[in-house]
Amino acid sequence: MEFILTVNGIKRTVMTDPERPLLDVLREDFKLTGTKYGCGEGYCGACTVLIDGKCVHACMTPVAMADNRVILTIEGLARGDSLNPVQEAFLEEGAMQCGYCTPGMIMRAVSLLQRNPNPTDEQIITEMNGNVCRCNGYIKILNAVRRAAKQIKASASSVELR
Ligand code: FES
Ligand code: FES
Repeated sequence: MEFILTVNGIKRTVMTDPERPLLDVLREDFKLTGTKYGCGEGYCGACTVLIDGKCVHACMTPVAMADNRVILTIEGLARGDSLNPVQEAFLEEGAMQCGYCTPGMIMRAVSLLQRNPNPTDEQIITEMNGNVCRCNGYIKILNAVRRAAKQIKASASSVELR
């Protein structure tokens, strides 16, 4: 079957099995390999992307569910050389070791800050709880989300989505 997805602002077409995971389509057909395969079972959050602004596990999302919808992946956050404030904050806090969880963590944080630009620590922890960092970088990740929230507030901007 044919599916039309708007991915990072670009309309794309794919002919595939409707049950095929969105993650495979992104990585294999569209060559957007920033979104990672971790557990493949909806537990780790490495594959987190946004569909119509909401977080999903791309490993558990059949491509048919993304048809005619707007997908944002880690590759869609920067504007040219300008990183998204959440990406900047992760860099500034050094909130990554191997980096495997980082795209999913950033997408989850973007989604949180879109809905709640001024989260408490508890709200950040609750939101990020579904994303696993096997390098145990949780304190730096918390600091990065706090920093991103402060930067967004200071610049009176928002975490822009396409
Ligand atoms: S790879 Fe999708 S949740 Fe782990
Ligand atoms: S930085 Fe290695 S899994 Fe999180």
